Amino acid sequence: MGRKKIPLSFVEDLLSRADIVDVISNYLSLKQTGRNYMALCPFHPEKTPSFVVSPEKQIFKCFGCGVGGSAITFIQKYENLSFYESVKRLCELSGNEFPSEFSEETNETEKLYESAKEVANFFHQQIEKVKPYLKKREIKDDLSRRFMLGYAPKDYYGKLKLPDKTLKKLNLITEKGKTFFSERLIIPIFNHSGKIVAFGARALKEHQKPKYINSPESEIFNKSSILYGFYQARENILKKKEVIVVEGYFDVISLFKVGIERTVAPMGTSLTEKHAKTLKRYAKKIVLFFDGDEAGEKATLRASELLTKIGVEPFIIKPPEGEDPDSISKADEELLKTLISQPAPLSKYLIKKAKDEPLETRSEFIKTAVSIYSAFEKHDPFKLKKFLSELSVETESDIKWLKSIVKSTLKQPFKTEKKQNQKPLIPEYEKVFIKGIMEGIIPHDIELSPNIFYSNECKKLYLYLKLTKGHLNSVEMEQNDPELSGIVAELAFTNFNDNEIKSALCRILRKEIERKIRSTKEFSLKKRLKTISIKLSQKEAGGIEEIISCIY
Ligand code: UTP
Ligand code: MN
Repeated sequence: MGRKKIPLSFVEDLLSRADIVDVISNYLSLKQTGRNYMALCPFHPEKTPSFVVSPEKQIFKCFGCGVGGSAITFIQKYENLSFYESVKRLCELSGNEFPSEFSEETNETEKLYESAKEVANFFHQQIEKVKPYLKKREIKDDLSRRFMLGYAPKDYYGKLKLPDKTLKKLNLITEKGKTFFSERLIIPIFNHSGKIVAFGARALKEHQKPKYINSPESEIFNKSSILYGFYQARENILKKKEVIVVEGYFDVISLFKVGIERTVAPMGTSLTEKHAKTLKRYAKKIVLFFDGDEAGEKATLRASELLTKIGVEPFIIKPPEGEDPDSISKADEELLKTLISQPAPLSKYLIKKAKDEPLETRSEFIKTAVSIYSAFEKHDPFKLKKFLSELSVETESDIKWLKSIVKSTLKQPFKTEKKQNQKPLIPEYEKVFIKGIMEGIIPHDIELSPNIFYSNECKKLYLYLKLTKGHLNSVEMEQNDPELSGIVAELAFTNFNDNEIKSALCRILRKEIERKIRSTKEFSLKKRLKTISIKLSQKEAGGIEEIISCIY
């Protein structure tokens, strides 16, 4: 992919030095059960654990949703990183050095990252110009360094020694060469692995409009998946299993200022499903701390709806009217800490809000509240039931009416989720057959049409094993075809006896023969093949070689 490939030997060596149990323990709390460790799967909702980690085999596997693989696959999926980035991350987690000779090639995208970093450095060097402003906002040097804040001078175009093409790609100048970040405070935006991908620029004077200008999306900047502050907050979120979502850049920076480092913000957009899913993987507790105004309350409800849909009940902090986390941090740090120490679960927030709502709009609000909470019908029906009865008591509304709101909400199908759960199944006998080859029980050079496999996964594995003479290198496999890592892990976990392998082999061979029968017009051959098929079903009791010899 334009990147220097990390040598397989390095990856294998790294995996042998980093224990998968230690690695995964950074993310989940594992419980030992016999030889393996178990946990609730972070990749799909579940109440009883089907996520297994094997220290002997150095793999994980979820028997509920099918994902599995090495420590690298785990990191890849959990943190949403590429293979390359996950190897780097594994080095970080296991205290191994990532050799600089594997660092990325300077292809187009890499160059763009490089340029963005150069630009950020340039702006950061001009920070003197915004020192008075930052001082007013009580932001000290260590913090402005950490977030690489800077200043864009009026004539930055001439001073950045980068080609126009690059500046345009980074949206630092318009098509016509106009600059639009001039004389503003620059807030570089880091992606989740720490690369600078875009910029926010805040007005420094009242008359400068708009207040913020943000880089539009680009090749390297996708708003709907990046959260501001995530890179700086990541370790702390993982450690505390908690994240605080705020609205603005300065809310993030201000919470860091008072030592609350588990804070992120979407950028000029509302929280997206992608954001929500990322946060869910990192944190058990998601706290929404939006502005104390109407927009903030609307954003709270919208984000809550997204979160309940993925089975998360967020916690809510409501700032005093007209305040935001940044302003509270300045006015009353103690209040800020008190607020953060006692966020209300969504249910309590909704019930309180329903009670406070004026009579004319109350029933409208109750409808909204119930429809947001309805998602728990799927994830946690008891939670929903409890909510409805509390709401009914507190607002003196008829429980039947509340239940009817749930019903009508759930009638609207939720398309995106359904699709995900409909992964085509892999027939058991195909898995057993592949395992038979891996174990050397079925010869790897057995000639079959790859199309007889129902599952694409087993078809690929069959072809791969043919090529490698039956030797499966799971690390290489993961690197080349991450989709296969789940099934490979599953095969590593399961054992089949000879009879199971034999009957899977017969089943596969019969499919092969049926295919041949269908594709021939020659009557005598058809007849011969049919005899073989019958023979095969009788041979199941015999040895493997005997079975295979039937088809030749
Ligand atoms: P706010 O106006 O609440 O920003 O908008 P803020 O962080 O409190 O601003 P300060 O404290 O006055 O500096 C919240 C977020 O919405 C986006 C920005 O991402 C901002 O952080 N926004 C706001 C824009 O993109 N453009 C704007 O003009 C205003
Ligand atoms: Mn604000």
